[in-house]
Amino acid sequence: MIPYGRQEITSSDIKEVKKVLTSNFITQGNKVPKFEKLVAKKVKAKYAIAVNSATSALHLSCMALGVTKNDIVWTSAISFVASANCAVYCGAQIDFVDISLKNYNICSKKLEEKLKIAKKKSLLPSVLVAVHMCGQPCDMKRIYDLSKKYKFKIIEDASHAIGSKYKNTLIGSCKYSSITVFSFHPVKIITTGEGGIATTNSKKLMEKLQILRTHGITKNQKSNSSNNGEWYYEQIDLGYNYRMTDISASLGISQLKRLDSYVKKRNDLAKRYDIKLKELPLILPKIPNYITSSFHLYVVLLDTNQLKINRLKLFNKLRSVDIGVQIHYIPIYKHPFYKKLFKKNFKLNNSEDYYERCISIPIYPSMKRWQQDKVINALRKFLV
Ligand SMILES: Cc1ncc(COP(=O)(O)O)c(C=O)c1O
Repeated sequence: MIPYGRQEITSSDIKEVKKVLTSNFITQGNKVPKFEKLVAKKVKAKYAIAVNSATSALHLSCMALGVTKNDIVWTSAISFVASANCAVYCGAQIDFVDISLKNYNICSKKLEEKLKIAKKKSLLPSVLVAVHMCGQPCDMKRIYDLSKKYKFKIIEDASHAIGSKYKNTLIGSCKYSSITVFSFHPVKIITTGEGGIATTNSKKLMEKLQILRTHGITKNQKSNSSNNGEWYYEQIDLGYNYRMTDISASLGISQLKRLDSYVKKRNDLAKRYDIKLKELPLILPKIPNYITSSFHLYVVLLDTNQLKINRLKLFNKLRSVDIGVQIHYIPIYKHPFYKKLFKKNFKLNNSEDYYERCISIPIYPSMKRWQQDKVINALRKFLV
């Protein structure tokens, strides 16, 4: 099966991980702080806090921003469920914004309309989770301006988007947000096995995230008396064990060296798809010139006006010839858990339309020419 995405593990990755495995610290050693420093430096953020998944990072980000049951959090309907779950973990009310069919991200126009209505009803969100779908950044400047006007905070769910740029700024710099979150799951741009990181420029948020990822415990307690020795620690908040291991961090350090080349390889593959698929009844990704996408995903939309085959048939045909296409994503509000939570039927037109027609075709740095040709030829065969 040619998967839609996969990791690349090199001999130098293995060497670095082996070093940690035979060292004294396989967790809580010096690799996690080193990885954090390198990521922060790379994306030009002041701080980075590594955890065991992007899901954990999103949860802690909501907590650090003070999200509770009294809050409303908005996110994109088209994302992985974790973008919404993070708010539900905190007891907050979740609501979804429709996407733009230009970039499959939150539509800033629809966001503005929804904010106007919410203001009248006193139902404004305190946090917006802006998802950079496929690696293509959201319209961040516009969303940031709206956040100032309507007084909400922004978490960038950049699980797909390490290495992406928006107006010459690398995603993760938090120029337009309080916190940015990356995922290092194996299908993402770089991997730590499982893993995630939150970046921020706020010392206060950094300290909060650090404490929350490790049970709410601190060793820098104010109440330390002279009778307490080196052993002493205090739990000052209710946190979790969301720590990243040094094994994972060492893999991340090694992978991070190849981030730029991975983004380039993904963009080269995307360009080739752009050229080879342009005659087919498909809507291909269009990236504006002020954006660099990491191309975590290459999503095509079926042009159903011109097509006889439906999406399910195409999906099954591609899978039957060992092409591991996937659907990203089912609108979150369609999941039974969310249906139950809302107790009403939710429907966002663009999200529904997108979901009916989207299909993610394989793209990953170690993809061979013959593998890409196989995908292209299969699409030609099944679509024409
Ligand atoms: C948009 C988005 N957010 C969050 C996550 C959660 O990432 P993780 O698997 O690292 O918890 C994913 C993972 O697929 C994702 O695609």
